[in-house]
Formats: sequence, C-alpha cells, structure tokens
Amino acid sequence: MPDKPIIAPSILAADFANLEKEVMMLNGSRADWIHVDIMDGVFVPNISMGLPVVEAIHRHATKPLDVHLMIVQPERYIDAFKKAGADTISVHLEACPHLHRTLQQIRDAGCKRGVAINPHTPVSALESIITDVDLVCVMSVNPGFGGQKFIEQTFTKVAALKELIRTSGSAALIEIDGGVNLNNAPALLDAGADVLVAGSFVFSASEPKDVIGALKDLA
Ligand code: DX5
Ligand code: ZN
Repeated sequence: MPDKPIIAPSILAADFANLEKEVMMLNGSRADWIHVDIMDGVFVPNISMGLPVVEAIHRHATKPLDVHLMIVQPERYIDAFKKAGADTISVHLEACPHLHRTLQQIRDAGCKRGVAINPHTPVSALESIITDVDLVCVMSVNPGFGGQKFIEQTFTKVAALKELIRTSGSAALIEIDGGVNLNNAPALLDAGADVLVAGSFVFSASEPKDVIGALKDLA
C-alpha cells in the first residue's frame, strides 16, 4: 500500500448539467485521478456518457482520467478514448475474449492498462495476466449504477489479489470501485487496496472536497 491511497472520485455521480464546475472542484481538491464510467447499455444495463463528454471533461481537468469501460468489444474504442484524454483505460475481463491482445492495444496507445473484474469473477482468473496490467479494478458492486451497496466479500478478494500480485512480482495497483465510503475504506486499505473510487459518497456530501480529503488521509 502506498503511504496514502490514490483517490479517484467517480464523475458519474456529479451534476452533469454543471460538469465544468464539478471538474474544477475536483481540480482544487486532493483527488488524484478522475474516474470516468463508460456504460453501453449492453455489457451493463445502463448508458452513461460517451466520447464527447470525456473530451469535455479532459478539456477542464488537471488530473489524469481513469476511464472504466463497461462496454462490449472495448478493443474497438481504445484509440478513441486515448484521443479523448484517457490516461488509464480499464476493460472488463468478462468483455474480452482476447484480453492479452486488448491490453497490448491499450499499452500501444500510450495508456496505463487496467482490467476490471465483476463480483462473480474469481481472482484466479487473473493469474495468467497479472504481470501484464498496471491496475486491477475490483468491482465491489455489480457494474452499471452508482450508489449501490458495497459487497462485503470484496475484502477477502482484495487480500487474495494482493497475494497474487506479491507472489507474481506484478506491479499492478488494486482499485476498488463501488459503494466505497469512510466505513469500509480503512479495511480495504488494510487488505491491500491502493486506489479508492468513490462516486455518490463524494458528490452527495455537502462538502465533497472534505470527503476527498478524509479518504486521502486514511492510511
Ligand atoms: C459502477 C461504476 C462506479 C460507480 C461508483 O458501475 O463503475 O465507478 O460510479 O459509484 P458509487 O461510489 O456511488 O458506488
Ligand atoms: Zn467505475
């Protein structure tokens, strides 16, 4: 675990009618990255935002964009999301029959390589790929919506993933996505999490910057 966790507020929970203002708030906060959730209505039941919105966020953001693709056939859009401003691109293991190739494509585009796993996907599914990724996004809710309840089995999953990363010599960071708050974050960091994504917990607060600061100071 780094000294302090990397905090990645999810812009999905922001006020989309005031996106510039919301991005400026994050710029002025202690957030490290901006997490951007892309949903296609096929891989997940919901549709969120597309390339023009990512470009608009990137135009104002002073922090790296952590783009989480919850879409089928993500290999078709890697270059487009890089152009739109992505720094890290995470694809879902469940959406990639040729995951190794897709990760190479992300690296060749000049982005950090992320793989996201759904709650039902075991850590063992990552064994053959763990040294080829920069980040593993562990879904702690079923992807598709913000504001859902955190799945408690995530703690043991994170510990197992930490062990896999240690024994394989991988440098991958562990990111937790879904239902993260100040109650579960300390145990997530203890289990080995490096990056905390938080959407509704940050944006529903009266002082989002204070919540970001409180998460940042947990370690
Ligand atoms: C869920 C998304 C998450 C979501 C997190 O499908 O991948 O990034 O925005 O939001 P909260 O923190 O509200 O669960
Ligand atoms: Zn996400």
